[in-house]
Amino acid sequence: MKTTNKTITQIEPWIDNAELVQLKRVIDSTFLTEHKLTKEFEQLVADYTGAKHVVATSNGSTALYAGLFALGIGPGDEVIVPNFTFVASCNAIILTGAKPVFCEVDAKTFCIDVDKIEALITEKTKAIMPVHIYGQSADVPAILKIAKQYNLKVIEDAAQAIGVLYDGEHVGLKSDLSIISFYGNKTITCGEGGVVMTQSKEIADKVYRLKNHGRPKRGTFIHEDIGYNFSITEMQSAVGIAQMGKLPAIIERKQAIHDRYMNELQNIEGFVPVEIDKRCKPVFWFTSFLTAQREELELYLRNHNIQSRKFFCPLHLQPCYQGMIDETASFPISTKIYEQGISLPSAYNLKDEDQTYVIECIKAFFKQK
Ligand SMILES: Cc1ncc(COP(=O)(O)O)c(C=O)c1O
Repeated sequence: MKTTNKTITQIEPWIDNAELVQLKRVIDSTFLTEHKLTKEFEQLVADYTGAKHVVATSNGSTALYAGLFALGIGPGDEVIVPNFTFVASCNAIILTGAKPVFCEVDAKTFCIDVDKIEALITEKTKAIMPVHIYGQSADVPAILKIAKQYNLKVIEDAAQAIGVLYDGEHVGLKSDLSIISFYGNKTITCGEGGVVMTQSKEIADKVYRLKNHGRPKRGTFIHEDIGYNFSITEMQSAVGIAQMGKLPAIIERKQAIHDRYMNELQNIEGFVPVEIDKRCKPVFWFTSFLTAQREELELYLRNHNIQSRKFFCPLHLQPCYQGMIDETASFPISTKIYEQGISLPSAYNLKDEDQTYVIECIKAFFKQK
């Protein structure tokens, strides 16, 4: 096995002259705060996904908060959220004053287990927040059926899911609203950045007002609502415009990286790939596996200059939520995937020979066991 002295990164953005060209437009315009390039970025996201309304925000977390607020979620309300997600999904609920209620996830897709939602609904429940995790989609049609029956809102956390299709359609279009994050480690990035997507003009307008100090337009000092400042900048949008142009190539490359890992590694005993829901066309933001030897494998890879990434710690195990959790609830699936999940180097720029090295190292690790 050929050794390497440089570190093979788990993820890194593809940034080059294309971003500089767009950033130059910002410098030339002297408009640094949200302006024409942001409109252009929003339109590109709308055209790509099929969303009628796209409102850019400073990041995915502010998009989530603004979305929940626009749906009228607040103190006294409960929102059902999958237990296996990044903390931002839950913290946005808490920030509105509502209570998050944790739901176990599906063992195959790691998205919210739709069969466990109904048991969590109380008279305080106002919304369900499916999260499309690690490039897969939750079963939103099933969630919408439950929501209709109980008169609940649905807000999709599609922070990680640009490009992900379900039943042939981009995620995030069938519910009340959805959000996407463009944080530095996402499929495409603005450094920081987010959007709210919705088919409803009324919701889009509410989100816009909330992120713009309670005004429907800039340049006035009359504020109809109490709002805040969750604006994106033209620099972020410029990077986003360039990244939108690269998105199809990034998705294709990530699929190829995933396919190669699968071909080479899926038959190793004790190294289990993530299963894909047949209705979903995922985007392999990360390629991930489950193994009971996760800690040893992670260390072995690190000692061979290969970065890997653990899975998210589920909400019920987070120190910050202790005291907020129903003591009788148990989450064996989230716990297992947290303990066993490992994401492999999955960057667009991963060289073929570096992927060969990663694959050889993993094979060598399991051979010595
Ligand atoms: C599932 C999920 N929700 C929300 C967020 C928050 O997005 P941001 O980092 O852009 O605030 C993230 C981000 O990493 C995420 O993975």
